Amino acid sequence: MKFIVCENYDEMSAKAAEFIKKEIENDPHCVLGLATGSSPVGMYEKLAGMCLDFSSVTTVNLDEYYPISPENENSYRYFMNKNLFDRVNIKKENTHVPDGTAPDPDAECARYDALIRELCGIDLQVLGIGKNGHIGFNEPSDSLVADTHVTALSESTIKANSRFFKSESDVPKRALTMGMASIIESRKIILLASGKSKHAAISALFDGKITPMIPATFLKIHRDVTVICDKEAYEG
Ligand code: F6R
Repeated sequence: MKFIVCENYDEMSAKAAEFIKKEIENDPHCVLGLATGSSPVGMYEKLAGMCLDFSSVTTVNLDEYYPISPENENSYRYFMNKNLFDRVNIKKENTHVPDGTAPDPDAECARYDALIRELCGIDLQVLGIGKNGHIGFNEPSDSLVADTHVTALSESTIKANSRFFKSESDVPKRALTMGMASIIESRKIILLASGKSKHAAISALFDGKITPMIPATFLKIHRDVTVICDKEAYEG
């Protein structure tokens, strides 16, 4: 695991955008795994300003609340359209987010895994990290799940994400999330973290220990992970 420690959020965002730029320039048909939340917003902002050619790029997002409609401003589909897809020349049909309106969520998860297999996996996966060490919505637990699945959000995640909603009770209690296997099978991973509140989760990556109680520690078994974080996340 490599660490790139940046002065601040802006530098972190620029470094992360460079990774994506390189990936697209090396392989215009690449498959990008994308995340939402506040960590990658700056990176999307930089990417939108780079005049990159996204016309042959495919994206698969990590997760989506369930149930939620794509028109809901808090849905991850809405977030992705607003922050990136509507601002670059990507083909909408090549952008994939789990469907928060699917009548059968388990069938939707199976469809999503089949889609990732059809795409031959993810070339570069972008991750944020929860304060509790979650990646995607793989929450701390005695055991983790390999495949895309329906998950209950932890109290800590509901609290953290309530900043985007009118009130905590409006935060959906469930989500559809890629499992640990699709994440770990990505050929390259970058993980973004900014701010003191992420220090505990980031410092769990410093030693060799792996525990399902901090899902991000499983990234230690991957050969090509770069953590791009700011000083506050790194030093506390
Ligand atoms: C979002 C996602 C989550 C976030 C994490 C950090 O698609 O998968 O794991 O990356 O909750 O969120 P922020 O960046 O808002 O602190």
